[in-house]
Amino acid sequence: MKVIKDYQNNMQVIKKIDNLRVILGKYRKIGKRIALVPTMGYFHAGHLSLIDAIRKKADIVVLSLFVNPMQFGPGEDLVRYPRDFERDERLARERGADIIFYPEACDMYTELFSTYVVTDQLSEVLCGKSRPVHFKGVTTVVAKLFNIVQPDVAVFGRKDVQQAIIIQRMVADLNFPIEIIVVPIVREPDGLAMSSRNIYLSENERKQAPVIQAALQNALETVKNGETSAEKIRQLVQHKIESAALARIEYIEVIRERDLQPVDRIEPGTFIAVAVWFGKTRLIDNLGLLI
Ligand code: PAF
Repeated sequence: MKVIKDYQNNMQVIKKIDNLRVILGKYRKIGKRIALVPTMGYFHAGHLSLIDAIRKKADIVVLSLFVNPMQFGPGEDLVRYPRDFERDERLARERGADIIFYPEACDMYTELFSTYVVTDQLSEVLCGKSRPVHFKGVTTVVAKLFNIVQPDVAVFGRKDVQQAIIIQRMVADLNFPIEIIVVPIVREPDGLAMSSRNIYLSENERKQAPVIQAALQNALETVKNGETSAEKIRQLVQHKIESAALARIEYIEVIRERDLQPVDRIEPGTFIAVAVWFGKTRLIDNLGLLI
């Protein structure tokens, strides 16, 4: 098969693992660098910024779109997770992706599937406490995607900071020869971090949700003004978020990037991570306090 790359944006949608491997094998043979953008679809500007960030680093951008059942626990939002393939396809095409890999669950997880990738410790803190199977599902599917696509480089968003750190750990521990890029959070004009789940918010919840970012910014200002106590910063964020009547805090933690463990004093590499419920919607956000 002759490999033709149409730079006028002839994006391909590929569903079958074997077909994707054949196509990517040909690109690899002629020296093309391959990038992977793993997603669960329902694109917003945050997803599109991942494509932009990686475009400069590779010749072929593969965007995977797979709502991975393994990373949803019982009672979580797998069934209602927003999906709109036609819209996603158009947005990815307009943004310059080369391939959308859109596999079916039965091809990703055959009946006999029984091998998992687990990153201990890092996956047990923060979101891992309330979502005990989540990161096992993430690392397993991302390891599969890495093996299927064999990218030179892959990109993840900073909003899911724990996920990004776990994946970096997995790549180092299992010697995947893949460069991992983590791109900044993209926010709505009022500061709310973009998330596919924001559409679940009611009008009133949506109005109050930017309190999260306001609280994090407040914390950052306070640190810039000389505060070094992690507990004081934690409390400051807590009080601010509690001022929103509809907010229910799951966690607020001041932790270090290296191992996601809590710190007493703010030091370089410290960031604050939060999970807050508005009604049935769980929002996460984070901010580096001293980079
Ligand atoms: O961040 C996500 O959308 C997902 O967790 C990922 C990395 C695509 C794995 O399913």
